[in-house]
Amino acid sequence: RISTTETFAGISYPGHLHTKESLQLAQDFQFQDMDILIATFPKSGTTWMQEILTLIYNKGDSVVAETLPNWLRTPWLEHTYFRDLVQENGGLRIITTHLPYDILAPALKNSKAKVIYMVRNPKDVAVSYYHFHKFAKFLPEPGNFGKFLDRFLNGTVHYGSWFQHVKGWLRHQENASFFLITYEDMHRELRCSIERLCGFLNHSLSSEELDRVEEHCSFGNMSQNRMVNCTLISPEILDHSKGKFMRKGKVGDWKQHFTVAQNNLFERIYQEEMSHCKHCFLMTL
Ligand code: PPS
Repeated sequence: RISTTETFAGISYPGHLHTKESLQLAQDFQFQDMDILIATFPKSGTTWMQEILTLIYNKGDSVVAETLPNWLRTPWLEHTYFRDLVQENGGLRIITTHLPYDILAPALKNSKAKVIYMVRNPKDVAVSYYHFHKFAKFLPEPGNFGKFLDRFLNGTVHYGSWFQHVKGWLRHQENASFFLITYEDMHRELRCSIERLCGFLNHSLSSEELDRVEEHCSFGNMSQNRMVNCTLISPEILDHSKGKFMRKGKVGDWKQHFTVAQNNLFERIYQEEMSHCKHCFLMTL
C-alpha cells in the first residue's frame, strides 16, 4: 500500500494526488463564468458525467474521449497537477471535484460557473467505494464490508461523510446555475438525461449527435475505453489483478452485499441525517 492521508478542514484525502497546498489552491480557485463544475461524492458516476460532457462538447465525436485521459480533459480541481493543466484563456473549462460544498461555496458564490451535482444511492456508493478500496493502493485497507460500511456511515472514509456532502451541495440549489441529476436517472433514461443536460448547458445537438453521445457513453463502451477505465494507471497505484474501475455499473448492487441488519442500520441513519434537511430530497434507497 502507498496509502497516506492529507487532512484539510477536518476531512481526510488520499495523500496521493492531494497536498495541503493543492487543497488550498482549490479553495482559492477563481471560477470563470464559462466554467462547468462536475461535483460528486466519489463513486457517484463522476467518470460517466465527465465522458458525457466531453462528448456533448465534441458533438458526439469520440476522438478526444478516445485519445485523452479523462483527468487531462476534465481535471480534478483538488489534485496536485491541476494548476499545470487548467487553461486561463477564458474558454470552456470542464472541472471535476469531490470537495465538499463548504470549501468551494465562497468561490462559487459570486460566479456564474455552472455546477452539475450528481448523486447516487449511497448504498451503491458504499459498495462501489468498498470494491475500489480493495485495489486502489493509495486508499487504506478496507477490511471486510461491515467494517468499511461503519466507516462510510460515520464519515471517516476519505472525502468525508456522504450525508454532509449531499446536504452541503444541495444548499447551492438556489443558485440558477445548478443542475442536479442522479445516477439512477441516467441509468434509467440516458438519452433523456443527456437532453436535459444539453438544455441546462444551452448547447443543442442534433438527433444524430445525441445518438452518438448516448452510444459512446454506455457502460459497455466506456468499459473498453482505456482513457476512462483506469487501465492506463500503473499497477503500483491500482492493483488491476484485484479489481476493475468499471466494475458493474448497476443500480441496486448493494442487495448483494448488505445483511438485513446492515440495511436497517443504514436506513435509520439515512432518515436521521436526511429527513430534517429542508434542501434535500429523499431518494428511494
Ligand atoms: S470516482 O473514482 O469517484 O471517480 O468514481 P466514479 O466515476 O464517480 O464512479 C464509478 C462508478 O460509476 C460506474 N460507471 C458507470 N455506470 C453506468 N454506466 C456508465 N457508463 C458508467 N461509467 C462508470 C462505475 O462502474 C462505478 O460503479 P460500480 O458500481 O463500482 O460499477
